[in-house]
Amino acid sequence: MDRQALQERFGILGDSPALRRVLERVAQVAPPDITVLLEGESGVGKELVATAIHGLSRRRHKRLVVVNCGAIPEGLIESELFGAEKGAYTGATDRRTGYFEEADGGTLFLDEIGEMPLQAQVRLLRVLETGEFSRVGGTAMLTSDARVIAATNKDLGEEVRKGTFREDLYYRLSTVVLRLPSLRQRREDIVPLFEAFLARFSRQYEAPYLRLAPDAADLLRRYNWPGNVRELRNVAEQATVMVRQNPLTAEAVRPLLRGVSASAGLTLAPRPAADAADQSLLYQALLEIRAELRAVRAEVASIRDGAPGALVRLPPTVADARFAADLSPFADLGEVEQEVAYEPPAPAPFDAADTLFEVEDGVPFERDDAPDRNGARPALPDSLEAALADGLPLPTMEEAEAALIAEALRRFDGNRRQSAEALGISERTLYRKLKEE
Ligand SMILES: Nc1ncnc2c1ncn2[C@@H]1O[C@H](COP(=O)(O)OP(=O)(O)O)[C@@H](O)[C@H]1O
Ligand SMILES: [Mg+2]
Repeated sequence: MDRQALQERFGILGDSPALRRVLERVAQVAPPDITVLLEGESGVGKELVATAIHGLSRRRHKRLVVVNCGAIPEGLIESELFGAEKGAYTGATDRRTGYFEEADGGTLFLDEIGEMPLQAQVRLLRVLETGEFSRVGGTAMLTSDARVIAATNKDLGEEVRKGTFREDLYYRLSTVVLRLPSLRQRREDIVPLFEAFLARFSRQYEAPYLRLAPDAADLLRRYNWPGNVRELRNVAEQATVMVRQNPLTAEAVRPLLRGVSASAGLTLAPRPAADAADQSLLYQALLEIRAELRAVRAEVASIRDGAPGALVRLPPTVADARFAADLSPFADLGEVEQEVAYEPPAPAPFDAADTLFEVEDGVPFERDDAPDRNGARPALPDSLEAALADGLPLPTMEEAEAALIAEALRRFDGNRRQSAEALGISERTLYRKLKEE
């Protein structure tokens, strides 16, 4: 079956090259009984594509069983997938048929496979390789002829690196990988899709078919659609039901987008560069969080100090907090202490291009390696003079740099902004270098 027929048959809308490429591959991989991994953000159409693959295979007259691995409690997933013998666990009063048995001869769609616990992954790999499995609490080997289509919105390679996904299973699943593009990656599909949904919903609700005013079309094209087609479909549905005015204007559409994503300003493309005002707001927010933490901490301390059976006093320093964390039932307060101990930089003359990242990857909360406010680092030479003293071997570039930084911090009394300025580097770079040491 060619791509166009496939789109018609399964109601898959869109004509962008990115989508077409994927659907051409869908048509190729559907007939052979091969395992397929669908990757893509939530709402891009992974389940729809899985349905199409099943519908184009010789298994189409058998069942397509859809399982969302992320929705099943960890302790139950193996018995859900592979079944369980009577008495396999508390409350198992009957034998339970697993999804692999149910999908025998058909297709099993394992959605959110990245959420599958490691133990279940072992069993899954086995059934994929041999077709054999046993029920939980059982010893008999059963066989299942289910074709597996898996889907994930995570980067499974990354999960493998983190150790939460088995590498062997990853390779077994990724024989055929189809990556479904997000709506952002095929903006040319947005308006046609939206119009098609408006038409669909106007029939369904016997409501007028809304036309898109040019400014509304423009807004939809620029919006970032974090929820992809699912979100777009919902917005079109809401517009059909709730908006009475025709044509549909940007003004009428905007609140529907905001409803989905509160910070519409940030989800519009192109993403606006953070300016100094944004930065100072961010730092303001950090300061407020800090103040709140301090207040919470004080409150907890007062409750605890007054409470009978209090174990330890709230630790006054980070080091004490670490030590106390081993003893205290309020162990996480050690973390709070660390957060409170952070001294955010002055917001004023930041380089706007740098600063957003400063906030993102320089977010202070784990900076237990931060030098203290005076910039004193015992491992470093006190000053440039000391590093360059006659009779000593020349410092390495790295050492010289460290000494230079130490010198600058000393001269400016630990003020990082002024030090960075004097050294001709951004404050962000200075942070980096301090962190590296
Ligand atoms: N290309 C498309 N054409 C028409 N409807 C689509 C398309 N992609 C997704 N949808 C619809 O969007 C919704 C979300 O799709 P789904 O397949 O569940 O996404 P995912 O599994 O990736 O989260 C469903 O209602 C689906 O029918
Ligand atoms: Mg889904």
